[in-house]
Amino acid sequence: MEEVLKVMQLSEDDLAAFVDFKNKLSKEDTFVAQSGEILSEESEQNDFISFINEIRAKNAVEITLWQDSILVGNAKIWRMNKYKRNKHVGCCSIALLNEWRGKGYGKKLMKEIMNKAIMEIEGLKLFTLTTYSNNNIAIKLYKDLGFKEWGRLPNAVYYKGKYVDQVEMFMVI
Ligand SMILES: CC(C)(COP(=O)(O)OP(=O)(O)OC[C@H]1O[C@@H](n2cnc3c(N)ncnc32)[C@H](O)[C@@H]1OP(=O)(O)O)[C@@H](O)C(=O)NCCC(=O)NCCS
Repeated sequence: MEEVLKVMQLSEDDLAAFVDFKNKLSKEDTFVAQSGEILSEESEQNDFISFINEIRAKNAVEITLWQDSILVGNAKIWRMNKYKRNKHVGCCSIALLNEWRGKGYGKKLMKEIMNKAIMEIEGLKLFTLTTYSNNNIAIKLYKDLGFKEWGRLPNAVYYKGKYVDQVEMFMVI
């Protein structure tokens, strides 16, 4: 990683920076779940704290990228659920703020978070993720890393005025 960026673990104190990061992505209307909706610290607090507790319980990992006090990138993997049926499946997610894309950070972060998940979340056997059929950069990145597409939910995503498919991908660990 470039020296201007720091890689850190999230803590409870980072709620405001995390919400700010999500709101910037939402305002940009990029390939994330929110498209213009603005989140508040109050609405996000419970999920944020429970995710940090899942990290402490070794059921999740997260890496964040910072420029000074601004959160500029985030990658995380968490168990699909806590039950024996699915706890060996790790769900992956990644996003960077616009100005930090296309510089190699996405690929580095994905590799790092997958290695961290394998090291820290016991018993993972499969990674899974969801993307959008028009997110060519992400699909290429995931395929380069070894992910394969296993299915599409047709028109499940409303993206900038039209419907696109939700693409489901997996990788055996
Ligand atoms: C998807 C995302 C995480 C990828 O991270 P990134 O840092 O931009 O990607 P990288 O710079 O690591 O590049 C990964 C590959 O994509 C290629 N790539 C990156 N930006 C590109 C662009 N604008 N045009 C064409 N190719 C591009 C790179 O050349 C690289 O391929 P290579 O390894 O063969 O050289 C990032 O673009 C992002 O956060 N996008 C918005 C949110 C999002 O889509 N999240 C994923 C949701 S499923």
